[in-house]
Amino acid sequence: MFPKFTVKKNTPYGRLGTIFTAHGNISTPSFFFCATKATIKGVDVWTMETLNTPVILANTYHLMLQPGAEVIAKSGSVGTFMGWSGPTYTDSGGYQIFSLGYGCVSQEIKGSPRSGRYLKISENGATFLSYRDGSTWCLTPELSIHVQQALGADCIFTLDECTPYHISYEQTRASMEQSHRWAKRSLTAFLKEDAPYKRSYQGLYGISQGGIYPDLRCQSVDFLNSMPFFGHGIGGSLGKTSAQMREVLDMALENLCPERPIHLLGIGKIQDIFDGIAKGIDTFDCVIPTRLGRHGGALIRPHYWSTAHEAYHSRASINLLKACFKNDHRPIDETCTCPTCQRYTRAYLHHLMKSKEISAGSALTIHNVFFMNSMMEAIRDGIALNSMKDVRLQWVGD
Ligand code: GUN
Ligand code: ZN
Repeated sequence: MFPKFTVKKNTPYGRLGTIFTAHGNISTPSFFFCATKATIKGVDVWTMETLNTPVILANTYHLMLQPGAEVIAKSGSVGTFMGWSGPTYTDSGGYQIFSLGYGCVSQEIKGSPRSGRYLKISENGATFLSYRDGSTWCLTPELSIHVQQALGADCIFTLDECTPYHISYEQTRASMEQSHRWAKRSLTAFLKEDAPYKRSYQGLYGISQGGIYPDLRCQSVDFLNSMPFFGHGIGGSLGKTSAQMREVLDMALENLCPERPIHLLGIGKIQDIFDGIAKGIDTFDCVIPTRLGRHGGALIRPHYWSTAHEAYHSRASINLLKACFKNDHRPIDETCTCPTCQRYTRAYLHHLMKSKEISAGSALTIHNVFFMNSMMEAIRDGIALNSMKDVRLQWVGD
């Protein structure tokens, strides 16, 4: 019966495992690319396949508004709809409620129906106006599960409230308790035998919240462990800095059920991925590699960091829009075997970016996808061969 998760090896640098799904196996640790609207922006699915992409993650909120769950269900599932035959996940829409911009349950309504960004969170769910046509929607835990069953991904998430960073302990607690009540309702809806789009192969992840507060994170984990979820997501604010993220992760992971896969939602940066894996995280998703590519950023390894300081986007990427690349006729990375580095120079990519050609974003995204997939493979090998110190040195630099 799918999905299934097994752990092959546990080490202080991370654990090795496999998530078995009806659409293929995911070797963990693994990084999931975001196909929010059922596409990886700028890259075809067949190219994603050739870059050894293990799995893609689509979004309930966007797809239920456009093209609608029923359209996708008619084609089979979100995977068949987008021509992707490998494993798929969908997020519940919880993060989109947060990113619409209006706090959480303990804060009163902000915005108004006329502002176009109206959002009201109540016990029942999140009421908002569609960004497409202004129609009113209420995303409840039951609707999120209904839509995610229609979309038919291999693994899905409970509806939660992604608690923001800046709110008080009391507000964080109220928000977490709200997410727990929604998690219960999500599970009940998921287990209903006569649901219209019930899929025998789907697994449900519960999401822990609790912000940066140790006792809340512990309570959230105890709550999730007591319920029969296939896996666990870690959501909400993990603090402001990487150091704080590591502290929060320690709390969030301390008592988590070791037999279940653990997904860190919305992370991210290379160093954070290494740190998360060392603490026992199995999978990650983030828009960074694909978004960065569309904005001219190419991920590079530490051996290149000394080449062009002024050209860094951040510590781990260069910005091909910078003038210093105008006459730089080297590939992004001479040691990279991705299709972009095999054919294109920095000068050419700089020209494409400057000319606002859509192929620029594609070419850079392809490099970044290949980079992430190669890095995750190196990490899995590093755990298997007990050489993670070396692997970290090669990809993080310290
Ligand atoms: N993506 C990033 N953070 C979160 C979160 O807290 N909840 C959900 N559902 N998705 C996320
Ligand atoms: Zn490359």
